Amino acid sequence: MSKFLWGSATSAYQCEGGWQEGGKGLSNWDVFCHSEENSVNPVTGDVASDVYHRYEEDIRMLAKGNQNAYRFSLCWTRILPNGTGVVSQEGIDFYNRVLDTCEKYGVEPFVTLYHYDIPISLFKSGGWENRETAFAFIEYAKICFKYFGHRVKYWATVNEPNYETYCCYGRGNYPPNVQDLSRRWKAMYHLLLGSAGCIHEYKKMNLKGMIGIVSDSYSIESLVDNEEYREAIYNADLFYNRCVNDVSVLGEYPQDFIDKLSKEYDLSYMLPEDKVIFKEGIVDYLGINAYDRTLVKPYTTGETCMIANNTGDGVTKNSTIIKGWFELDEDPNTIKNAWGCELYPKSVYNLLLDLKDKYPKIPIIITENGLGYYDECIDGKVNDQYRIEFLNGFIYWIKKAMEDGCDVRGYFVWSTMDLYSWINGYKKRYGLVYIDYEDNNKRIPKESYYWYKKKIKEERF
Ligand code: BG6
Repeated sequence: MSKFLWGSATSAYQCEGGWQEGGKGLSNWDVFCHSEENSVNPVTGDVASDVYHRYEEDIRMLAKGNQNAYRFSLCWTRILPNGTGVVSQEGIDFYNRVLDTCEKYGVEPFVTLYHYDIPISLFKSGGWENRETAFAFIEYAKICFKYFGHRVKYWATVNEPNYETYCCYGRGNYPPNVQDLSRRWKAMYHLLLGSAGCIHEYKKMNLKGMIGIVSDSYSIESLVDNEEYREAIYNADLFYNRCVNDVSVLGEYPQDFIDKLSKEYDLSYMLPEDKVIFKEGIVDYLGINAYDRTLVKPYTTGETCMIANNTGDGVTKNSTIIKGWFELDEDPNTIKNAWGCELYPKSVYNLLLDLKDKYPKIPIIITENGLGYYDECIDGKVNDQYRIEFLNGFIYWIKKAMEDGCDVRGYFVWSTMDLYSWINGYKKRYGLVYIDYEDNNKRIPKESYYWYKKKIKEERF
């Protein structure tokens, strides 16, 4: 059996910086962050954690912390500055240097092809709402497989098709800042089509590795148990989980989901010939980003709306109403962080058991789990006991789920170091390593880094 992956994760836009270096082209996030629409926390990823220049230091520190894997994403516009067409040798060289460094320190690279940063040229021609983007993505993926396929054993196609489109087209707080679920379902369809197409291409190349998708997945629960609440759970499960996971693991859109959507929306973009692409693009593993549970109650009244706490004021509620489907509920008794995320580690156990029931044969990798917090560095130390408690709880419940038969192959903390948080800016920190943005991006390992180092040594999975 291959080793259990113990690591931490990042994404290109959130940590690399070097936004105009190495021949890189612009992405939707480069443009959005420099626009007036970026008004809630008006910062950019121009420099971010400066990993573009400091990856060696970061990977060395990760390895010294006993982590054997590093999840990071490739920036599409470093490799193809215009999104399609000419490959940038500088971009290929950069990622080869990152992979060399992983090799040097005995760290398994776990590479995501797409983590929210779409080339601006494709974004302007409709982004994921445009079918052509799916095929441009497959071409980009083939280039990545050609250059890096012999040295990367773990691939993820897309990060969070649910959450990305929820924010882009539901909450409207990610570019293109739209609130229209019909456009959301269309964009998600093309993301999943692109993902399946990549997987098929990867398999044709006969490379030695695993390829999957990273899906933010939720244990959907309710505070009341009756028929109406169970129906709300069922609907929310379709809305957040099965719309991605069924397609990726079973290779087809669930019929109950199509039936439900077709009552409200025009689905003519779902072409009959795509069915074969989905069937040939089944994942080797399911990557799960697990943060909190989703509490729901039956839909009662009002228009569809999705409101996020982007400010971290500890007050604004994350509320959602999906007309005719469900509403989000809240448990007044659980502890939440300042952005309203519940600190409820047992949710991962419930989620893993649910996934085992639904997809008994698919291995799971926890590709992200973490806690956003206003960390403080006092006298050169960051004592983030709250994070330790949270992560420790997750690992405890993952272990329990494994004892109960769940096939979990790896666990990644979000994030390797502090980095840019979409919409929430730099004050919301997730890293195992603190970045002093005021002092030349100095790296300071937090208490959680040392705790994780010890935990990895002690745990035997
Ligand atoms: C996940 C994403 O949804 O959650 C990450 O894959 C993200 O990119 C993380 O940073 C935390 O979200 P946020 O908005 O709190 O930074």
